[in-house]
Amino acid sequence: MLWDKLLGLFSDDLAIDLGTANTIVIAKGKGIIISEPSVVALRIEPNGEKSVLAVGKEAKEMLGRTPENIEAIRPLKEGVIADFDVAQEMIRAFIAKAHNGKRWVRPRVIICVPYGLTQVERKTVEDSAQSAGAREVILVEEPKAAAIGAGLPVKDPKGSMVIDIGGGTTEIGIVSLDGLVKSKSLKVGGDRFEEEIVEHIRKKHKLIVGEQTGEEIKITIGTAIELDEPKKMQIKGRDESTGLLKEAEISSEDVREAIAKPLEEIANAAQEVLEEVSPELAGDIIESGIALTGGGALLNGLDVYLSKRLQLPVFIAEDPLLSVAKGTGAMLENIDSYKHFMSDR
Ligand SMILES: Nc1ncnc2c1ncn2[C@@H]1O[C@H](COP(=O)(O)OP(=O)(O)OP(=O)(O)O)[C@@H](O)[C@H]1O
Ligand SMILES: [Mg+2]
Repeated sequence: MLWDKLLGLFSDDLAIDLGTANTIVIAKGKGIIISEPSVVALRIEPNGEKSVLAVGKEAKEMLGRTPENIEAIRPLKEGVIADFDVAQEMIRAFIAKAHNGKRWVRPRVIICVPYGLTQVERKTVEDSAQSAGAREVILVEEPKAAAIGAGLPVKDPKGSMVIDIGGGTTEIGIVSLDGLVKSKSLKVGGDRFEEEIVEHIRKKHKLIVGEQTGEEIKITIGTAIELDEPKKMQIKGRDESTGLLKEAEISSEDVREAIAKPLEEIANAAQEVLEEVSPELAGDIIESGIALTGGGALLNGLDVYLSKRLQLPVFIAEDPLLSVAKGTGAMLENIDSYKHFMSDR
């Protein structure tokens, strides 16, 4: 115990946003030290054993481009752990990287996880961090971290609402008085937008494109609202019937049509959450509006779309891709002050 405490003195405590698309690590007093895709590349040996080849950016570039003996995996999908062993390796690798390979450090680690994780999945995350050297692991749920990271007054006797649209999930939360009053998590996020875009292009242009191209299209010309002048983009893929390489021009209207359904699901869920809270809290939110966080908040026009649908002010948090990490970091810097908020579940 004493030894643990002594080692703790030399360790940088860490805050980790364990996202399905990106993992961000913050060191106490230092800010963001790692921000990389949540992807692991494994080498499969002839005897079937697997070893970690790369983690993060390097591994993401391998997605869809691997020879038979290499596998690039995203261990978290739709807000749940899709592959336990690989998730464990990834968490371990990021913590080791945060400590520059120093083996003797024993940090305290706060990890922000998707709201919907089961007890077994939460335990996997805890065990991975512990096996990577953490002396204490505290898990917090994403809507809470997002609310703090978006700068919402979570301690005030006033309702604030956040919608975090990540890669795997959208998490909606209403906070007040140091607690999460209402929340909802749906398996809709950037990944689903991409799937719909890929499917739409296959149907409309008979062209097969990969997940990575789907993301590029979404980021470059994706939009939630109709544009005065639609944007266009040339894309390459494989012709569905001939199998040959082919190019096509797609427009932002194609993308808007493709993602209309998942957007509708997000708006409906937010509407339901609003209908379930007390009139007092609803009144607060009519006044203060809804904060959008997560990479999905960067989708063109999403704020305008949701504002119109919900008849409420909607604003994008500063650096939405970092809101959850910043919120988790704030909890790490001030564990005592956020004690109640972290553990109200
Ligand atoms: N400019 C952009 N326009 C639209 N989507 C974007 C943009 N930039 C990033 N994204 C998307 O944001 C998603 C990643 O967001 P984020 O890092 O918040 O997710 P995450 O925290 O890893 O996932 P989750 O919270 O679901 O576990 C990806 O799907 C990515 O394609
Ligand atoms: Mg997230």
